[in-house]
Amino acid sequence: MPSSIVILTGAGISAESGIATFRDPDGIWSKIDYREVATPQGFAANPARVHDFYNWRRQNVKSVEPNAAHVALARLERAFAGEFLLVTQNVDSLHERAGSERLIHMHGQHDRALCNACGGRTPWHGEMSLETLCPGCEQAGHMRPDVVWFGEMPYEMDRIQAALRGCDLFVSIGTSGNVYPAAGFVREARAAGARTVELNLEPSQGADLFHEAEHGPATRIVPDFVERLLGA
Ligand code: OAD
Repeated sequence: MPSSIVILTGAGISAESGIATFRDPDGIWSKIDYREVATPQGFAANPARVHDFYNWRRQNVKSVEPNAAHVALARLERAFAGEFLLVTQNVDSLHERAGSERLIHMHGQHDRALCNACGGRTPWHGEMSLETLCPGCEQAGHMRPDVVWFGEMPYEMDRIQAALRGCDLFVSIGTSGNVYPAAGFVREARAAGARTVELNLEPSQGADLFHEAEHGPATRIVPDFVERLLGA
């Protein structure tokens, strides 16, 4: 049994809840140019377009539910006596809705807003537009979704890296391994001496970096993995 676990999740863990992934054949980036909706430059060029995209995503996630993989990770957190950290690249709230608590949203959350004028971050559940007033500084025209765009620094990297340095089990779930710094976590965990496991529908970009891998749908392989781990 390990004494310290770090888990990284990506879009694949929410796919069976009905949220599209990014890089699968019918993924979001096959239909939409990420530079238009997921970069500071895209927001500067056409903020209304970016608000429309995140208003749609924020609305979409309200009608979906956590699946068996989210639930299994919440169960692992409750049942495991050692150090535990769940790091997600996902901006949906399915992990917390399943009961996860020791959780970092390294790419932000689309049910939060960030004001470019005052830097304030607030929960946000409705629509957002250029007319939206910041609840902190009360200025209009500066509100944006609190999500990390390409070229921006993910949240809480110091805490994540400290956990990676101290872990003896690292599990990567439902991520294609294309986006850094998350794609580099497996190397950091290995350097710390951790056992590394990939759970994904298919081998990821960095599949060779893991000690072990299991491929299949998250709703099957994640609960199985958790049961084996807790039974060990
Ligand atoms: P991707 O869309 O790049 O990768 C999703 C991975 O999940 C792929 O490797 C799929 O094979 C796998 N997958 C799909 N369905 C699955 C299922 N049912 N069970 C298990 N695995 C499944 O998504 P991410 O790796 O999360 O960032 O993308 C990383 C970042 O790129 C995102 O956080 C987002 C995106 O652009 C930003 O927007 C900054």
